Amino acid sequence: MATRPILLYPSPVIRKMSAPVTSIDERLQRLIDDMIETMYAAPGIGLAAPQVGALTRVIVLDPRDQRRAGGLITLINPETIAAEGTTAKEEGCLCIPGVREEVTRSERVVVRAYDRNEREIVVEGSGLRARILQHEIDHLDGVLFIDRLGTAKREMISRVITSSSRRSPSTSGPGATP
Ligand code: CO
Repeated sequence: MATRPILLYPSPVIRKMSAPVTSIDERLQRLIDDMIETMYAAPGIGLAAPQVGALTRVIVLDPRDQRRAGGLITLINPETIAAEGTTAKEEGCLCIPGVREEVTRSERVVVRAYDRNEREIVVEGSGLRARILQHEIDHLDGVLFIDRLGTAKREMISRVITSSSRRSPSTSGPGATP
């Protein structure tokens, strides 16, 4: 396992649509191992493959942010099959260090996917887990959490980020960051 560099906004790669996984082979297993390592090292509570430059539909998440707590979930080709309620909470993204904003999302989601052993699984989430699932699945479509803010706020953030050329990639703020 190895960590991989996390691409930072406004990298054009994290804006692209990721392709469905067609074969769960050695190469994909290596990517998943590296994504898990990268997520914990960041530290983060979720990571999508495009964030490390792989445009393929894989996400990992661990709402508890603890390697040994057994909260790790790996989802291949995840698809949201149900969503209900709405909730607004602050969130951030490892690709956009230092920015945290309140985002409105579904309160509860049901996601169908494959695990790394090629088994079809259904994952339900509410609260933080639901939020991370939605955030990471958005990444697979090139969507960032700032896209879900109002236009004025999004433009302000984008202006601030793109104009600060000496921004340090290691200054992710406090709190859990997917
Ligand atoms: Co993110």
